[in-house]
Amino acid sequence: MRCVVTGAAGFVGSHLCELLLARGDEVTGIDCLTDYYDPRLKEAHLSGALAHERFRLHRVDLLEAPLEQVLDGAEVVYHLAGQPGVRPSWGAEFATYVSRNVLATQAVLEAARRVGPAKLVYASSSSVYGDAESYPTAETVRPRPVSPYGVTKLAAEHLCELYRSGFGVPTVSLRLFTVYGPRQRPDMAFSRLVSAAVRGGEFELYGTGTQTRDFTFVGDVVRAMADAAASEFTGVANVGGGSRTSMTEVLDLVTELAGAPVVRRLPTQRGDVRDTAADTRVAFQGFGYVPSTGLREGLALMVEAERSTVPAAAGLLAAAGARS
Ligand code: UGA
Repeated sequence: MRCVVTGAAGFVGSHLCELLLARGDEVTGIDCLTDYYDPRLKEAHLSGALAHERFRLHRVDLLEAPLEQVLDGAEVVYHLAGQPGVRPSWGAEFATYVSRNVLATQAVLEAARRVGPAKLVYASSSSVYGDAESYPTAETVRPRPVSPYGVTKLAAEHLCELYRSGFGVPTVSLRLFTVYGPRQRPDMAFSRLVSAAVRGGEFELYGTGTQTRDFTFVGDVVRAMADAAASEFTGVANVGGGSRTSMTEVLDLVTELAGAPVVRRLPTQRGDVRDTAADTRVAFQGFGYVPSTGLREGLALMVEAERSTVPAAAGLLAAAGARS
């Protein structure tokens, strides 16, 4: 099968490319390697895929790419590219979020409308819910984002629904719940925490540590994407990890697995939701989704990956984490 993956060099994108290649697909990646974090890290993420004869990369911005040409002949388009991160999306940065999350998605949908892939899978986000009215949260709960980032992810999701109902583009929007695993973005909690525990340095804990997340292992997420693409399902579905854990519990787990990190407490950050928890019944009914990697197992894989990272790459990671 021929697939296109936007955001191929990102954390989730690089794992997805590897899964699709392992399944025998022909994969075209699109990524302009933005400097949200060190592009050399993204190149490193892609090294496995780049070595593969069925993979090729277009290093181009979605808003400048000849998208109809690139998407032509693709059976599935996985649209993962975007500007991530809830906390930095305020102020002047918002323009970048609108451009990379809303305008870029509209450009992908316009191209898809013309070339007609069998499925378009959009990587949406649990951040569309904000502080939800109920937990575990079902897709029918009214979305009320509390970050500008969440607003742009929701806008792009609405665009997917519009192109589905208006033009018959078979879109699936997967609301991903705090994805973690090896190669996690250096601005996210687990990569910072595991690095602090394995290599030393401080972990800055925002808020009291009582905030909870439905952390989802990246292997489960990319499997959900491929399974959703292969199914008849269209519409919106949550993809969560199956349990709700506080940051204090995560700290305890990491301490058990890798030793105690030094923790510095900072105030709760604007844009952070208090809790997330996914009701995954729609994903189960739609494409058989059941998360298979528990938090302890997934964190152990992150610790193992951190320990085996060569010092030069670890330096890159630390620098990228400090900058973002
Ligand atoms: C993550 C991603 O960053 C978003 O791109 C994604 O859309 C979102 O998940 C989602 O599920 O929709 P977040 O839940 O904030 O957002 O993920 P983390 O950065 O891993 O944060 C988890 C918790 O740890 C938050 O409460 C955060 O405040 C806290 N945290 C994060 C810290 O205490 N210290 C840090 O250095 C980073």
